[in-house]
Amino acid sequence: MQLLNGNEVAKTLKANIKLEVEQLKIAGKKVPHLAAILVGVDGASMTYVNAKEKDCREVGFDSTILRFDMSITEEELLKEVEKINNDTNIDGLIVQLPLPKHISEKKVTETISYKKDVDGFHPMNVGLMFKGLPCFLPATPFGIIKLLEHYNIETSGKNCVVIGRSDIVGKPMGALMLQKNCTVTVCHSKTKDLNSFTQKADIVIAALGIPEFLKADMIKEGAVVIDVGITRVDDTTSVKGYVLKGDVKFDEVSQKASWITPVPGGVGPMTRIGLMLNTLEAVKMKTILNPMVDRSIVK
Ligand code: GUN
Repeated sequence: MQLLNGNEVAKTLKANIKLEVEQLKIAGKKVPHLAAILVGVDGASMTYVNAKEKDCREVGFDSTILRFDMSITEEELLKEVEKINNDTNIDGLIVQLPLPKHISEKKVTETISYKKDVDGFHPMNVGLMFKGLPCFLPATPFGIIKLLEHYNIETSGKNCVVIGRSDIVGKPMGALMLQKNCTVTVCHSKTKDLNSFTQKADIVIAALGIPEFLKADMIKEGAVVIDVGITRVDDTTSVKGYVLKGDVKFDEVSQKASWITPVPGGVGPMTRIGLMLNTLEAVKMKTILNPMVDRSIVK
């Protein structure tokens, strides 16, 4: 078994992004500016947003975090989004999900200008992605593609099973693996006899959010296994009071897989790279001619 080391790859790609930012500066161009909206005090969301801010600082982006109380109304939040849409100083905007129940994630996602939608959640970007056209790709699937490419993992003609059909990961992941010439099956909670699919898969992407769901007997010898899961599981023996668990039972699956992502240190850092690449692209869109042309991953 070999590790698909997201931490290592992210470090290399981050250095490249930093260089590009320095070149933009030398050319007198704008430094990328990412804004993040955070509503409430959910522990995981705060951790993610703080990590994104740290990434921005490290590569030389400007960043702004707008924090709002849980009590903000949908109308007020949509107004804040509109303000950022109209702020020429800000290139990319993410609204950290999940949002409180009284706010429609659909409305918020659709209000963000698709030109600043560096999460790739706006229907315009989703449509462009499904057609294999230049767009902002959703950060997690984008990061996974970058990870597979970095390690030269063969995708053409391979059977790929994605477990989970979320808008953020499962659905776009399936579309991108199809563009990478895989034969793709997207499995979900209503799939009958899941093992019959996963046992035939050359590549399994687990994105269902159930800790240690994928066991060794569910995969074939030599499969490539990507673990998107990152769930906080209570653990009184840990200082933080929880441990992070992926969707894959790593100790046993790693004995059988040819390549596997660890948790943490696999997909997580690559997601953040996806977001930074999109934010960089948001600036280049404004500063160079037709830059989105080679954003399509279709070869
Ligand atoms: N919540 C979980 N994943 C994501 C993500 O990729 N972007 C945003 N905005 N919220 C999330």
